[in-house]
Parts: sequence; C-alpha cells; structure tokens
Amino acid sequence: MTSSISLGFHLLNIVFIDLYLFVQFTFRTYNFEYLELQISVTLNRYNFKYLITSLVYLPKIFMAEKVNPYKDSDQSKKVQVTKMFDTISNEYDGLNRVISFGIDVKWRNKVVKMVAEKQPENILDIATGTGDLAISLASTNAKEIIGLDISDGMLEVGRKKISSKNLNGIISMVIGDSEDLPFEDNTFDAITVAFGVRNFEHLEKGLAEILRVLKPNGIFVILETSVPTNPIYKAGYNFHTKLIMPTIGKIFSKDKVAYNYLSESASVFPYGEALNNILRKIGFIKVEHNPQTMGVATIYSASKA
Ligand SMILES: C[S@@+](CC[C@H](N)C(=O)[O-])C[C@H]1O[C@@H](n2cnc3c(N)ncnc32)[C@H](O)[C@@H]1O
Repeated sequence: MTSSISLGFHLLNIVFIDLYLFVQFTFRTYNFEYLELQISVTLNRYNFKYLITSLVYLPKIFMAEKVNPYKDSDQSKKVQVTKMFDTISNEYDGLNRVISFGIDVKWRNKVVKMVAEKQPENILDIATGTGDLAISLASTNAKEIIGLDISDGMLEVGRKKISSKNLNGIISMVIGDSEDLPFEDNTFDAITVAFGVRNFEHLEKGLAEILRVLKPNGIFVILETSVPTNPIYKAGYNFHTKLIMPTIGKIFSKDKVAYNYLSESASVFPYGEALNNILRKIGFIKVEHNPQTMGVATIYSASKA
C-alpha cells in the first residue's frame, strides 16, 4: 500500500517536472542548470506536502520571473536588471527615500536587530546595491561584512559611502551573482537580502545558493515588498505603486521604465506563506515571516539544519 502511494506521488512528480519543462520550452526560457536544480530539489526533498506546494506556487514564481524591466528586449532578465540598476545607481538612494517615505530605513533597522541577536562573526548582504543594509549591519560588531551585487554601478555608489564612514576595514563590496555565489559551502553566520530576491532571474536557484553558503544554525533574513491583504490598505498600496511610483520615476529617473518594473515586479512576487513554502522547499528550517507597515513589506527569517 505504502509503496503504491509512493509510486503514485513519484508519477505525479514526473508529470509536474514535464509540465515545467513544457512551460520552459513554450516560452523559450529553457535553462538546463535550473531544471537540474528543480529535479534534484524536488526529488531530494520529495514528499506529498512539497509536491502540492510546488504546484501551487510554481505559477507565482513563473510570473515573477517573467516580469522584466524592458518589455521589448530579448536580453535575459539578469542582463536587463543589471543594466537598469547601473543606470539608476546615482539616483537610487534619493528616489528610494522619497518613494518609501523613508520607512525603508526603519525596516532595515529591524533586520539589523534580528541579525545582531545572533552575534555573527561574518555576514553576507546579497543584492547589497548601494550598501545601506551592509553599512547598518556594521553595528552588529561582525568582524567581516561582504556586500555582493551584480551591478557595479550600485556597488560604486556604496563603496564611496563605506569610505566616507571609514568602514573599509569591515565591509567589502564584491561584484557577483546570487545564483552562483563565489564562496565555499557553510561560510556565513548570517545572510541578508533587502529588496533583492524579486530581481533574481531564477529565484529558487538564488535561494539554494544562499542555503549552500549559510552555516548550519546561521540566520537568513529577507526584507521584501509584499501586498497588503486588507482591501482598504491594498487600494492605497495600488494607488501608490501603480500611479505615484511610476510617475515619480518618469519625472526624476534617468531610466523612464525602471520604476514601472519595480512596481510591477513587487505586485506579482510571492509573499507571506507562499514565500515561506518556497524557502522550506529549498531546505531552510525555522521559516517565519513578519509583515511590516500594513503589509507593504515583509521580513522573513530562516535557518539551516
Ligand atoms: C532594489 S535594489 C536593493 C538594494 C539594497 N539591498 C537596498 O536595500 O536598497 C536590488 C539590487 O539587487 C541587485 N541584483 C539583482 N539581481 C541580482 C543577482 N542575481 N545577484 C546579485 N545582485 C542582484 C541589483 O543590482 C540591485 O542593486
């Protein structure tokens, strides 16, 4: 009986992978390494619960990965995202404060507090951008903080801020891709990503890399935009992200479509329990989430066995 149920699940799993392959081929986004990872993650962590959550959240990941900055471009999401952040790097900090009314500073401070409680020796801040979170993390007294980002333009702005605060001895800014991290397994006590995961070309691949380089019992914290569930807050959120944000972007940004992308990618990205389940499926443990400011952002924390 148990073995026939198991065989049934196995067949369903194969159907799921086939469907996934079909979608990848249809939309010409076939990526062998990603498929390999999908198969191994699904089979290794294979059980009924994960199969169900896979089927539920896969369309969400697929939609999020399909939202690209430049609609008419044939380039990969990664290339487009890098280009976009290089273009807006000098205006990013200023526009960000205006668009978020400065609340992003409060959210980053909460992330710092959660990380500080673990007294980490070393921290990796992925998608560090202009380094605001990496700089705030210096207050944890970690001996080494690495800020990693795919956009050299963003890193360059960050390097200047780090020098002006005399933090060069603690924080280094490294160019790199979250989906292929240049570090050994089990390297970091703490890893953070603020407003970065929704820009990954392959979300699960990036998260699997993060799990690989996190030390057992280490802490992983994500700060990411989310959508309020309360209909009144949601209406306000839609007004701000769909109208105000792109308009401010159009007037003040060097890249006229960047803030459309940032708003659109936020609206389709999986959040709350959906993102928790993705983290669990990848292999993270102790996964929790905590919505911030009416649910317009959420802080997720997780660990490694
Ligand atoms: C919205 S910014 C967030 C920057 C910063 N963490 C903050 O809180 O302001 C997103 C950052 O993710 C970076 N990014 C996108 N895809 C990446 C990838 N695959 N690997 C590393 N960084 C990436 C972008 O270059 C950009 O700097």
